[in-house]
Amino acid sequence: MKIDILSLFPEMFTGVLSASMMHQAADRGIVDFAVTNFRDYTENKHNRVDDYPYGGGAGMVLTPQPIFDAVDAVTESAEQQPRVILLTPQGRPYQQADAEALSKEDHLIFICGHYEGYDERIRDHLITDEISIGDYVLTGGELGAMVVIDSVVRLLPGVLGNETSAVSDSFSNGLLEHPQYTRPANFRGFEVPEVLRSGNHAKIDEWRYRQSIKRTYERRPELLNKLSLDEQAKDWLEALKSND
Ligand code: ADE
Repeated sequence: MKIDILSLFPEMFTGVLSASMMHQAADRGIVDFAVTNFRDYTENKHNRVDDYPYGGGAGMVLTPQPIFDAVDAVTESAEQQPRVILLTPQGRPYQQADAEALSKEDHLIFICGHYEGYDERIRDHLITDEISIGDYVLTGGELGAMVVIDSVVRLLPGVLGNETSAVSDSFSNGLLEHPQYTRPANFRGFEVPEVLRSGNHAKIDEWRYRQSIKRTYERRPELLNKLSLDEQAKDWLEALKSND
């Protein structure tokens, strides 16, 4: 996968892309990251990338020219039209299903604005997706792009050591993940649930599934409305509700 990031602050990406899984994914050739400062593309003689809003008002607006030209430059040799993603609090709220869909693409371009708004023609004529990482306002799209990139790249085949670990992630089946324990079995008197040490895998699977349902019900009940649960899970859920 090729990932292009267009930002006025490329240095913000140095740490994230050069550590842990992102670094390993790039090192193994699974992903190719390129960070471009779109200020390099401005035709403004003072190197400006923003201007006053038509109609007046506070704040500056990112002009279309440097961003359109930077996207043209990074798509020049592209065989297919890549997804061009704008990070903004006005975008679609980002979810695990979006990460899964984006992980199937060959080329992604992320546009990160900083402190200003975007000229609407960027939205209307350049981008394919507008993503928000949550209902709060950041100073720029960079942190949002990092969140999306991390969640996409970890899904690429060969990035996670154990291929199944993405399968049991919270959200991948619509539920939160069950509790996990490791050694010691007794830590300061706090015991690991007996069933996990029983070696009975059918029982362990059932316990985990039940715990996933319980945890989702307690923490994110709205997620359960989107799922079609099997009869057993429905019974567990009824039991949880009747205990409230
Ligand atoms: N840029 C500023 N705030 C943002 C948010 N919540 N999500 C994505 N990009 C942003």
